[in-house]
Amino acid sequence: MSPTQSRTSLALTRRLRRLRTSESIRALVRETRLSPDMFMLPLFVCGGEGVRREVSSMPGVFNLSVDEAVKEVSAARGDGIKSVLLFGLPDHKDDIGSASYDMEAPVQSAIRAIKREIPDVLVVSDVCLCEYTDHGHCGVIIDNEIANDPTVAQLVRAATSHAAAGADIVAPSDMMDGRVGAIRQALDDRGHEHVAIMSYAAKYCSAFYGPFRDAAGSAPKFGDRRSHQMDPANAEEALREVEQDIEEGADIVMVKPALPYLDIITRVKEAFGYPTAAYHVSGEYAMLKAAARNGWIDEPRAMLETLTGIRRAGADIIITYYARDAARAIA
Ligand code: PBG
Repeated sequence: MSPTQSRTSLALTRRLRRLRTSESIRALVRETRLSPDMFMLPLFVCGGEGVRREVSSMPGVFNLSVDEAVKEVSAARGDGIKSVLLFGLPDHKDDIGSASYDMEAPVQSAIRAIKREIPDVLVVSDVCLCEYTDHGHCGVIIDNEIANDPTVAQLVRAATSHAAAGADIVAPSDMMDGRVGAIRQALDDRGHEHVAIMSYAAKYCSAFYGPFRDAAGSAPKFGDRRSHQMDPANAEEALREVEQDIEEGADIVMVKPALPYLDIITRVKEAFGYPTAAYHVSGEYAMLKAAARNGWIDEPRAMLETLTGIRRAGADIIITYYARDAARAIA
């Protein structure tokens, strides 16, 4: 008898394939599920009206004027997205990033407009100076260095202006020491004790932010961000960063980027049990888009596999440019 005709079977006590025989049984035993509730959509808000300009290195991502941002948020709400993360493209930049706390600048205007039009969508605002400084660095430069404490003073002004405009959550992404505590204190002093802080707690100095810097016009004119963003080689240090931000009052902690740092997501979640966000960043998105455009991968499957992996690693919140596509795909 040939092997295919053979009716003999192995004396196996467990056949793991049994639970993979149909979609229904696979769904029954599925361990990790995605929900639109956990997706946060980043948006880039610029000045003007009726502006919807695609970012060349991020197909499907746009610079949006405030009116267009409101339309985008309302369409995203229709897909099931309940939180957005705002970045601003100011009309003018200077060496101290003063447009970051201008109440009439794009982000502050967008916060007010979104909270007015679609109040149940959570508005989260990124707090950093890199989009607002003419040199593109995340802080105030003194003697060729990013000066920590003067930068924190500027970040506090930006964060409180976002809260005054109506932001639900402020998200400092600068990686200066002590900024979470300083922001918490300033928010409380001004009566914004209900505004939460999502800190970019373990933010690595990553090559995967390249397309974002196109989108936000925030590439540093000289030097790099190694003096404040983390060394990709370090994990224990990430736990110290997260611990410190929690001690200073962070409500949600973030690991960024996501895919190259899945181990960090897992360790942060296990060590602290805090709401943990992972940022699937611009370069991670752009890689999938580029491969898909070349016909090299099946984009919808690669997208969901990626987001599932981030969730399986332990992320409660996934910040992703795919938020709307993913929400529609799992509807
Ligand atoms: C800083 C900031 C950056 C990102 C989010 N906040 C850029 C940087 O640190 O250079 C990157 C996000 C992405 O790549 O999608 N404001």
